Amino acid sequence: MPNTTNSTDRTDHTTTDTDDFTVTPYAVSGNVDYEKLLERFGADPLTDAYIERLPDHPAIRRRTFYAGRDVDRYLEAAEAGDPHALVTGRGPSGPMHLGHVLPLYLAKRFQEKTGATVYVPLSDDEKFLAKEESFDSIGEHTRENLRDVLAVGFDPARTRIVVDTADADVIYPIAVRLAKHLTPATVEAVYGEQDTVGLQFYPAVQATHLLLPQLVAGRQPTLVPIAVDQDPHVRVCRDVAAREALPVEKPGALLGRFLPSLEGPGKMSSSSEAASIELTDDSETVAETIRTYAYTGGRATLEAHREKGGDPSIDVPFQYLRFFFEDDDAELERIAREYRSGNLLSGELKEIATDRIADFLIEHQRRRDSLGSLADELEPYRLSESERRQALESAGVPTSLRP
Ligand code: TRP
Repeated sequence: MPNTTNSTDRTDHTTTDTDDFTVTPYAVSGNVDYEKLLERFGADPLTDAYIERLPDHPAIRRRTFYAGRDVDRYLEAAEAGDPHALVTGRGPSGPMHLGHVLPLYLAKRFQEKTGATVYVPLSDDEKFLAKEESFDSIGEHTRENLRDVLAVGFDPARTRIVVDTADADVIYPIAVRLAKHLTPATVEAVYGEQDTVGLQFYPAVQATHLLLPQLVAGRQPTLVPIAVDQDPHVRVCRDVAAREALPVEKPGALLGRFLPSLEGPGKMSSSSEAASIELTDDSETVAETIRTYAYTGGRATLEAHREKGGDPSIDVPFQYLRFFFEDDDAELERIAREYRSGNLLSGELKEIATDRIADFLIEHQRRRDSLGSLADELEPYRLSESERRQALESAGVPTSLRP
């Protein structure tokens, strides 16, 4: 295929008339065809060979993360013991729920296995622009979300957390530099029409997030594990990075499917009214939420279920176990078999999922509750003055007026 730019990525419109689904950072609708999406976005399927080389995690092994960009570059560096980084951010639009921490725990696993540097940017500016909420209210979500990010337990020596409005001294000038090459036409082609100039500018901010590890610590493969709706940001960043004379290489990506919403297939989103499991839910609440709302692959009556069996492939409690909460392949297979045979009932499968999720949340909450003041806990994860200076210098931004 001929390349029209020096990048091999396609940056055409993410919605087309021929397919009946839409996936952009600001809109996910229709029945997402994950394979077609790869063609549309121009990303590569995650091969078995990659899966074997990546750190072992159920979300990798079972292809929750099913595609990528430049994964080989990242693996080469990780295997050679050379510097390599991950960027996985959070848009603080509300309380975090299960789907939101998955990439964070995955990043932690990668960090433990190969010493990856991890950057976690929080885009409070983006959510202020995208939601009908005051800065106060977004600020409250940001503080609460930060406690959840801290509870994951990243290694502070290798992890940086940035908040767009709080770290604007470094993020804004770099975003400005990148924005010079971002035309309204590109933004519209990649994201669809935006309501405000604020949201039109934001892709330059997220592109900054993805380059920050390299601007701070030098050129290195950077992998961005994200749900596939965020891939447009990666494509824009790769495009801009290729055009700018910056000491960086294009960031790669690990693209994930959406964790199904409790009530059935589709995206789990804190912005919708849909029922969801929040990270602060206690075990009772988790049990009640799953019992009441979880979509199952069971049969209408007990007799029919015993006779014909259930369908794990559409059963949300089973899918939660598969995506994240049952690490043991043999045990997962046993549960699937029992369910298909009709021996295991939907209610019993719900209980298994509830127990695993509740156990996970108890541990997460234990770490969250043991945190001290947010400012104190955040301090070791913030960019140091010399790291800020380095990032700005790498991006060719004057630092002579800094304190
Ligand atoms: N835009 C993301 C969201 O809405 C959050 C985010 C900001 C992010 N910076 C990032 C995600 C960098 C991955 C990498 O959820």
